[in-house]
Amino acid sequence: MNIILLGPPGAGKGTQAAYLCKEYAIPHISTGDMFRAAVKAGTRLGLTAKSYMDRGDLVPDDVTIGIVGERLSEPDTQNGFLLDGFPRTIPQAEALQAVLLRIGKDLTAVVNIEVPEEELVTRLTGRLVCMACGATYHRVLNPSPLRDFCGVCNGPLITRADDAEATVRSRLEVYRKQTEPLISYYQSIGKLENINGLLPIDEVTALLRSVLTE
Ligand code: AP5
Ligand code: MG
Ligand code: ZN
Repeated sequence: MNIILLGPPGAGKGTQAAYLCKEYAIPHISTGDMFRAAVKAGTRLGLTAKSYMDRGDLVPDDVTIGIVGERLSEPDTQNGFLLDGFPRTIPQAEALQAVLLRIGKDLTAVVNIEVPEEELVTRLTGRLVCMACGATYHRVLNPSPLRDFCGVCNGPLITRADDAEATVRSRLEVYRKQTEPLISYYQSIGKLENINGLLPIDEVTALLRSVLTE
């Protein structure tokens, strides 16, 4: 199963990826998580990425394409993978097609999770993430059973640096300009499935499951 989860910031890509990757036993490849890990480790990649992420801008294509190309050649992607947050521009999508051709793989599906903009702002400004394991919650919509601590590993929950409302608005604008065109791109190559991401989390998971196994 080679899957792309497409959708605006806050659509629920990370939340759904956690369930699907466990169920299908495939790696969750999130460029956002990879960049945040690099920032935390203080690597050169992290330093580069941070300046873009703090403004809500995209990290340059050459950097992003490079790390995904390397990741997809690792052996754990043999039986499939789920891409979350990549591709995000037409050049990234074209580069991905070239990588897939080179490694002899094809996409099973590209699923676009649709959610209206005001709901995205509510979701992102209330999001909490576990500092230790990355599990995602929402203060109101999806609270942790342990309130300010992670229900999975008991780690402390924090707000992502780019979830301040002004940065969220910039990310949404960047999405509209640079990422939304991917919807027509994947439609034109016959890979696109749209699903309603406004439903409760478990119902979105059920929709994804049905789209992926049809
Ligand atoms: P990234 O980490 O990918 O962030 P994003 O795309 O902005 O998406 P999010 O992680 O914010 O949203 P999500 O869809 O995962 O939603 P979640 O499940 O958490 O990228 C961060 C930055 O890295 C970028 O801005 C860029 O700078 C850089 N970057 C990354 N990839 C790049 C690339 N390819 N090229 C260049 N730069 C790149 O859910 C959100 C909230 O909603 C949570 O609180 C959750 O609990 C709640 N929620 C989820 N589903 C539901 C539901 N159904 N009902 C109610 N609440 C829900
Ligand atoms: Mg995410
Ligand atoms: Zn945790």
